[in-house]
Amino acid sequence: MRHFLTLNDFSKDEIIEILNLAFEIKKEAKARNFKPYLKDQKLAMIFEKSSTRTRVSFDVGMNELGGHALFLSSRDIQLGRGEPIKDTARVISRMCDLIMARVNRHETLIGLAEFSRVPVINGLSDKFHPMQLMADLMTIVECGTPIPKIKAAYVGDGNNMAHSWLMLASKLGFELRVATPKGYEADPQILAQAQENAKISGAKILITNDIKEAVARANVVTTDTWVSMGQEAEKEQRIRDFAGFCVDESLMALAGSGAIFLHCLPAYRGYEVSEAVFEAHADEIFAEAENRLHAQKGVMVWLDQKR
Ligand code: CP
Ligand code: NVA
Repeated sequence: MRHFLTLNDFSKDEIIEILNLAFEIKKEAKARNFKPYLKDQKLAMIFEKSSTRTRVSFDVGMNELGGHALFLSSRDIQLGRGEPIKDTARVISRMCDLIMARVNRHETLIGLAEFSRVPVINGLSDKFHPMQLMADLMTIVECGTPIPKIKAAYVGDGNNMAHSWLMLASKLGFELRVATPKGYEADPQILAQAQENAKISGAKILITNDIKEAVARANVVTTDTWVSMGQEAEKEQRIRDFAGFCVDESLMALAGSGAIFLHCLPAYRGYEVSEAVFEAHADEIFAEAENRLHAQKGVMVWLDQKR
């Protein structure tokens, strides 16, 4: 049995296998051919944080696969009152076939996976957001860039999205530049892991504080909020520290012609991205959001096939 906690747990071939399965299931869905891959299975969705895309896409996706989804806010279940994660995992996994969790601390996911009888999926943690990256990868390939040709620039906070880009690029072997303000660099351990992976995959990874160096001739430019969930108290300080890190038209002009812009959303216009860049690339951004649905169906079916 496999879990989906970080892309680091997957080989390049496995990531591509999941991607291809997601494309196949998407094609079927577009033809209104909803095959019941997970007929009568139940997905428990634990949320310690807010969500629009993750909640809707997992719920709709599970329905389209012939199963059911249960929304479990940590405010309402006993986990939020201190029931241990290992007991929560043992209870839920006796009644449900899959668990998806959005958690404050990545260790909570590790605890769930350790005690669960069924696959556990990361729906975002403080460290990683791997489901988002599967959707991003689908979108890049659909926009016409094959994996070996990807030159991605991530501009912004060295957060869960930056870490997930590092894992994806270093596993698949494509070029990634990560530009953060000083003091907001990626976690050194995750960076070291990415550098290790890159030795095998041949990925070129550049870490810089210079946004222009990161974006120059990139074919994918991406960013994320400067203030992640749980960091609200640091908002004013972060806005000051991230000055100059907005992806605006002058920065996009340095990317290759035809470069796409992706954003996991929610987006804060005037901060990490300008209104003009966001709206000029809205087709890509909302295709990316839709691909959460298709990518997740691919992951859930793949996990089911591996047990
Ligand atoms: N991108 C993303 O995960 O969105 P939600 O927080 O709305 O789920
Ligand atoms: N880095 C953001 C991603 C939201 C989808 C957060 O963790 O809040």
